[in-house]
Amino acid sequence: MSTARVLVVDDNAALADNLREILEDAGYEVRVAGSAAAAQEVARDGFEVALVDVRLPDGDGTRLTERLRALAPESAVVLLTGFAALDTAIDAVRAGAFAYLVKPASTPHLLLTVEQALRQVTLHAEKRALARRAQVAEKLAAVGTMTAGLSHEIRNPLNGAALQLTVLERRVRKLPADSQPGLLEPLLLVRDEIRRLEHLVQDFLQFARPVELRAGAVPLHEVAAAVTQLLGGDAERRQVTLSCAVPETLPRVWGDGEKLRQVLMNLTLNAFEATPAGGQVRIQAHAASTEVELTVDDSGPGIPAEVQEHLFEPFFTTKAAGSGLGLSIVHAIVAQHGGVIHCERGPLGGARFRVTLPLAP
Ligand SMILES: Nc1ncnc2c1ncn2[C@@H]1O[C@H](COP(=O)(O)OP(=O)(O)OP(=O)(O)O)[C@@H](O)[C@H]1O
Ligand SMILES: [Mg+2]
Repeated sequence: MSTARVLVVDDNAALADNLREILEDAGYEVRVAGSAAAAQEVARDGFEVALVDVRLPDGDGTRLTERLRALAPESAVVLLTGFAALDTAIDAVRAGAFAYLVKPASTPHLLLTVEQALRQVTLHAEKRALARRAQVAEKLAAVGTMTAGLSHEIRNPLNGAALQLTVLERRVRKLPADSQPGLLEPLLLVRDEIRRLEHLVQDFLQFARPVELRAGAVPLHEVAAAVTQLLGGDAERRQVTLSCAVPETLPRVWGDGEKLRQVLMNLTLNAFEATPAGGQVRIQAHAASTEVELTVDDSGPGIPAEVQEHLFEPFFTTKAAGSGLGLSIVHAIVAQHGGVIHCERGPLGGARFRVTLPLAP
């Protein structure tokens, strides 16, 4: 885990500052809130451990514990209490807080409790991630074989239909010019629909039987440029500003350019679909020591926790016309590259998808 974030909620500014200093000295990132309302606001940015005063000007610690745990299910709350409010603190622990500390707590005791709370948070997060991965794997295995078979069966008649359609189109184009449009128009519509189906079948197959990577050293700026160009018209239609900042100087990543393009396409399309007119979608990349980080940000509504849990599961969608395969394909391709993908709250107010890919040797 990167630097753990501790949220300190206390209306006594001097006390809060003291806690901040102790925790920052121990290497934590600290945010302070002086009331229950402020705490809930700050909590939206995420935290791992909250230190909450039992008595707050606008509510008690038990209620706030429940709210904070709802906002950040993968977090732990530690109550700070005086002797007078010990009962409330005990109630709060019953309601889901990790522990309580009686004020004034010694620095070692405080740090130990935070450390333990953090360990619990990490363990829970790992457990949930494992369970989620197992769930996805199970679903994948169950639908994989069926999908592959079905897609094959669909592909043959689809190819047949597409072929007959070209025959039909050729014959129509030989007819007198004035009788063409009435026939050609529906014909071309059918052709477009068939193309859509072909894409869908392609997606199904890709997901059921991932083909081997044709890997080499890939310049990501070229991949990003291709995607930006392909989706430029789409962005314009949607009145979304698509910007791309992937420097040419970026070291190459190890992978399959075609597959990485699919990753970026799917992420960018999702970002478009989440962003209302007038909004922004931004593609960026930068290099770290042994990897490259590629991010796609949007200014949409972001992703609620209950959706977040299922994001990468095949067939999970919240869209009327979605197949729910986009992100599971992205996930599979990124994993095939030895990379990882994360989703978090982004700087544009909406979602940020962050893909880390290993550098080419
Ligand atoms: N940038 C985003 N902002 C908000 N929600 C998102 C974003 N990206 C994905 N999601 C959520 O994740 C769900 C799954 O995405 P995924 O790409 O797998 O499927 P889909 O977009 O619904 O369908 P499709 O198969 O057409 O891609 C979406 O339905 C949406 O609820
Ligand atoms: Mg999608």
